[in-house]
Amino acid sequence: MKTHGPSWALVGALMGTLGGMAHADDALNAPAFALYTQECGSCHMTYPTGLLPAASWQQIMRGLKTHYGLDASLDETSQLTLTTWLTAHAGTGKYARETPKDQRITLSAWFVRKHRAGEVPTAVWRRKSVGSPANCVACHADAERGDFNEDKVRIPP
Ligand code: HEC
Ligand code: HEC
Repeated sequence: MKTHGPSWALVGALMGTLGGMAHADDALNAPAFALYTQECGSCHMTYPTGLLPAASWQQIMRGLKTHYGLDASLDETSQLTLTTWLTAHAGTGKYARETPKDQRITLSAWFVRKHRAGEVPTAVWRRKSVGSPANCVACHADAERGDFNEDKVRIPP
């Protein structure tokens, strides 16, 4: 676990301890940063940085001009600042052991395993209320804070 960590990791760890069953996931890193929210949270949720390793974040930042079919390019300063910040806060734990295909968190082996059809029926992903596996907040209300506690998962109708 990183020591320069965001207060969220601490809050999460504390709540995990107090809550007993809520297992604090110290593998997850979800620091807040205004520039990240502003530039990377306008089209989709801000993904906890611990969900991808540094190499994947860097690859994403290099390819913003063709970002999953959209142009998400930034001015040079923001690009550099965000790349540095993402690199510093990238995942090093169990959710960031690989650089998944297309830099998709949703194509990581752990993601596929945790969301296999037995847990999330295939048809659920196509619901309007979900839209995409990448829309974590549809089912994990506190996803942006790195809270994926299974006891709080709620699949929307
Ligand atoms: C112009 C809109 C837009 C902006 C701005 C944007 N993205 Fe995206 N991003 C997308 C779309 C569209 C997808 C694909 C979503 C899907 O498959 O549901 C995506 C997907 C992603 C994914 C992969 C999600 C998965 O499938 O696991 C990551 C990671 C990501 N974006 C990071 C970023 C970062 C970092 C920034 C800021 C530098 C950013 N995005 C800014 C539109 C955007
Ligand atoms: C359609 C609803 C849905 C969406 C969208 C979704 N998940 Fe999940 N997620 C679940 C369910 C259901 C489980 C399994 C809960 C269980 O095992 O009881 C789960 C489990 C998890 C777990 C394991 C939790 C644990 O304690 O082991 C993690 C981590 C996780 N999801 C992360 C994500 C991330 C990151 C995203 C977005 C990129 C996402 N999920 C999108 C429904 C969803």
